[in-house]
Amino acid sequence: MTSYTDKGEKHEQGKFVCFDHLTFWVGNAKQAASYYCTKLGFEPLAYRGLETGSRDVVSHVVKQGKIIYVFTSALNPGNKEMGDHLVKHGDGVKDVAFTVENCDFLVEKARERGAIIIKEPHVVEDKFGRVKLAVLQTYGDTTHTFVERAGYNGLFLPGFHAPLFCDPFLAKLPSGKLDFIDHVVGNQSDNEMVPIVEWYQRNLLFHRFWSVDDKQLQTEYSALRSIVVANYEETVKMPINEPAMGKRKSQIQEYVEYYGGAGVQHIAMNTSDIITAVSKPQGLVLEISNLCLRLLKQTRMPEETSPSLHLMAHHRNSELALPIYSKCMVHIF
Ligand SMILES: [Fe+2]
Repeated sequence: MTSYTDKGEKHEQGKFVCFDHLTFWVGNAKQAASYYCTKLGFEPLAYRGLETGSRDVVSHVVKQGKIIYVFTSALNPGNKEMGDHLVKHGDGVKDVAFTVENCDFLVEKARERGAIIIKEPHVVEDKFGRVKLAVLQTYGDTTHTFVERAGYNGLFLPGFHAPLFCDPFLAKLPSGKLDFIDHVVGNQSDNEMVPIVEWYQRNLLFHRFWSVDDKQLQTEYSALRSIVVANYEETVKMPINEPAMGKRKSQIQEYVEYYGGAGVQHIAMNTSDIITAVSKPQGLVLEISNLCLRLLKQTRMPEETSPSLHLMAHHRNSELALPIYSKCMVHIF
C-alpha cells in the first residue's frame, strides 16, 4: 500500500465539498427505492413524476444520514438513452453528484483541460430557492453532476416534491445506522486505471490519496490494482480499479464484462456502529458476504477504525478487509 502526502494543485476558486447524491437508472424506480428503504433503513425524501409535472422520467429519492440515492426510470416507451443504458448495463449508477462551491469556475477549469461537458452550468429554481447544476462525462457511461446549492431550502432539488406515499410498514422498522458515503469505486478495463486517474487529476484537480498494486491486493485467485483519488480536502474519495492477473479471472474483469464496460462497482457507507448495523434484529436486512461474516466473528475491531458498510453492485467481492461487504445488491447474472 502506498499513501501520498502531495495534494497537488488547488483550485484558485471554488471546491468540491462532498458527495451530494448518487443517481441509479433502474427498470422500476418505485420498487428499487422501496427495497433500499426496507432492507437498508433509508426513508423516502422526495419524488418527481407525472403527478408533479415530470412527463419523461419518474424519480424516487431516499435518504439516510447524509446519504441520498435517486432512483430514476423512464416513463415513456422509446426512451432510447435510458433504454439503451438498461439493456447494456442493467440497473446501475448513472451519476455521482458532488456538492460544489463555484460551479462555473470548476466547470471552466475542467473544460480548459479537456473534460467533456454534457450539460453546461444552468440554474434550476422553485419557491425554495436556486441551485446551479452542470454535468460532466467520466468513465464508461457514468457522469458527474456538480451541485451548487447556495442556501437552497427545499427537500432535495427544484422540481422534486414531497413523497406522495409513505409506506406505513417503514415505521415498524428500526432506524438505519448509516451516516455518509465514504467512497464510490469505479471499475475500469485492463490498462484503463491510470488514464482515468489522470482524468481526475487533470480535470478536477483531485490527487492520488492511496494505491495498491496486484502484489499487495490479491486473494489466491483474483487480483486487482487500485488508485484512490480524492479532492483537495479529501472529503470525496474515488477508488479506481483495474484487473490484474491471478490464477483465475480478476473480479474487476468479471465486473467489466457483466456490466458492459467501466462503471461504479460498489458504494461504501460509513457507520459509527457496524455491529448493530448488520446484526439481527435491529440491523440491515440484507445478505452479508459469508467471508465478511467470518471476519466479523474473528475480528475485534480497533477503536480507531472507522467502519464502512460496502454496498456491492454486480459482483461478489472477495477483498480481505475489515469493512463489511454485502452481497450483490444488483444481479444481472
Ligand atoms: Fe470499498
